[in-house]
Amino acid sequence: MQKTKSVSQRIDALRKEIREHNFHYYVEDDPDIPDVEYDRLLRELENLEVENPGLITIDSPTQRVGAEPLKVFSQVTHRVPMLSLSNAFSKEEIETFDHRIRENLEADEIEYAGEPKLDGLAISLRYENGELVQGATRGDGATGENVTHNVRTIKSIPLKLRGTNIPPLLEVRGEIFMPKKGFDDLNTRQQKMGEKAFANPRNAAAGSLRQLDPKITATRPLTIYVYALGEVSESFHFDDHFSLLQQLKKWGLPVCSEIQLVKGASGCQKYYEYLGEKRNGLPYEIDGVVFKVNNYKQQQRMGFVAKAPRWAIAHKFPAQEEMTIIEGIDVQVGRTGALTPVARLKPVFVGGVTVTNATLHNQDEIDRKDIRIGDTVIVRRAGDVIPQVVKVVLSKRDDKTKEFRLPQKCPVCDSDVFKDEGEAVNRCSGGLYCGAQQKEAIKHYASRKAMDIDGLGDKLVEQFFEEKLIENIADLYKLERDDLVKLERMGEKSVDNLLVAINKSKETTLSRFLYSLGIREVGEATAMALANYFGSLDEVKKADAETLQKVPDVGPIVANHLAHFFSQSHNVEVIEKIIEAGVHWPKPLAKTGAQVLDKMTFVITGTLVSFSRSEAKAQLQALGAKVTGSVSKNTNYVIAGADPGSKADKADKLGVKVLSEDDFNHLLQAPQEYLVSLDG
Ligand code: IVH
Repeated sequence: MQKTKSVSQRIDALRKEIREHNFHYYVEDDPDIPDVEYDRLLRELENLEVENPGLITIDSPTQRVGAEPLKVFSQVTHRVPMLSLSNAFSKEEIETFDHRIRENLEADEIEYAGEPKLDGLAISLRYENGELVQGATRGDGATGENVTHNVRTIKSIPLKLRGTNIPPLLEVRGEIFMPKKGFDDLNTRQQKMGEKAFANPRNAAAGSLRQLDPKITATRPLTIYVYALGEVSESFHFDDHFSLLQQLKKWGLPVCSEIQLVKGASGCQKYYEYLGEKRNGLPYEIDGVVFKVNNYKQQQRMGFVAKAPRWAIAHKFPAQEEMTIIEGIDVQVGRTGALTPVARLKPVFVGGVTVTNATLHNQDEIDRKDIRIGDTVIVRRAGDVIPQVVKVVLSKRDDKTKEFRLPQKCPVCDSDVFKDEGEAVNRCSGGLYCGAQQKEAIKHYASRKAMDIDGLGDKLVEQFFEEKLIENIADLYKLERDDLVKLERMGEKSVDNLLVAINKSKETTLSRFLYSLGIREVGEATAMALANYFGSLDEVKKADAETLQKVPDVGPIVANHLAHFFSQSHNVEVIEKIIEAGVHWPKPLAKTGAQVLDKMTFVITGTLVSFSRSEAKAQLQALGAKVTGSVSKNTNYVIAGADPGSKADKADKLGVKVLSEDDFNHLLQAPQEYLVSLDG
């Protein structure tokens, strides 16, 4: 008896603790324990439940995936209908919307909640006495499908709410969606398994939620933000939407952190522009913003028309997908010899710009999507990303379309084209014999993140190359003033400026120089990791593939590319010439290898501009530092990018030093200046 009681107490305590960690992880976006510790708790609970099956309850965090797939979905009637939103496509339409509300309510200024319009699918979650009892799709707004078994597998959806004063009945509405990264990973997995890729995250989310077998849904990276109420207990009242959302958060339901209160049509416009700029950097897809009258009494007075409230509106971003025709396919040869088929499109206006080209990636992609010259296709342009062909509109295909195959010979230098085993890319075998590869290597060398030769843009490199003034990067340092001033469109002043810039680039850093060489797969982060690890170019050159792999961020493929690059005599010769010309960098730090920052612990938070989080992490690890997910008194530094959130606050509270991205860049150049010990 005694034993059972203590076991059941332990089980209760574990469930409660796991729920709290879920809250920190999914709602606060601020994990409070390491993953391994969380897994340990979950395993302990699982083991106790296996030993004591009588103590298993449906709301236990172990009970997310049910045993049996469904045969069919049952229907759910929405007692409070699930509405949709009216759309606006311009600033003027928002002004009209705001004007109508002000007139109706006889108010001078209206407060709105501005929210991202998430591109997923609407869901209604029903909690009875704090327990999740039902999840239903919107359907036609009056009747939807019962997808409870699948909703339960989504880890950010609490099976049991936390906190106090939870109404006996609480129906919340929100959007289930697939974050961009999860979508990319899922598609990569699908393709590896020979399954069809999903066209966009929305389709992937919808397809994943409408599975009869919850085991499949459980493998899909779905998540949720809630943004409205459905049916609730009569006793439940709130004055305004924004405070309701804060309360839902406290009960453990994820709410989007981008939601803001704004005032009037001008506030709406500012929010629209703000989020429009942020859109591509967000980890999930949005297709516009939503404005909702914040005050509930005012909402009630506005009421509804047909299926949409009169107190809310969606301001959509310009479409990112349009239809057009592929007029031809060109082949480009890149810096690493990769042959890229590029579709020449009938010009089309997509996502705010006119698009005339779209990358087709490689032959496999063309085959998989069955793309032919003359086809009508859907083109997608998301932000600064190169436009993509999403799919062919087969219903518009006629018998004049032509299939396309990449050439067997390089279109620039006529060398053989090869394809490495397991790779999708066809490459020119010409190496630096190939004009295209030489030219691209020089462009890369001069580019901003590489040697940053001010004024030496792609066009000028093309011109110098055509005029045979340069053949390889070392030739840049031999350019003569007299030759340059003779060129078309080159004034004396710009020649002088250029020569100064070339001269200035001679003073550099080892990591920049390594990156500038354009070695396959060696990006900025890898270059920096190499520089930090080896300290000198000679050491990098000497290292074999095995030694190279000791560097964080360097796997067998990158190691092979590096070793191959330095084994080529023409590369070594060019490097020698560059160094003879005077390119130099500071001597290595006294302490090299993976040691400088050993015993130091960092936390990275917010969005960094020039690194992804994993790149930043690799950089720190290359210097011997530990990088953890949560701030504690053992943290030496918190590196805070844009919108750092609660981790930076916690650092402040604990007196942990916070570094900006600029500080971080400086730290990577001079880590020894940042050595501190927590004891003193
Ligand atoms: S509120 C009472 N808020 O857009 C209004 N909907 O076009 C109910 N959506 O069916 C919807 N983000 O699937 C609302 N922040 C947001 C939203 C949002 C996306 C979707 C939702 C809805 C559709 C209407």
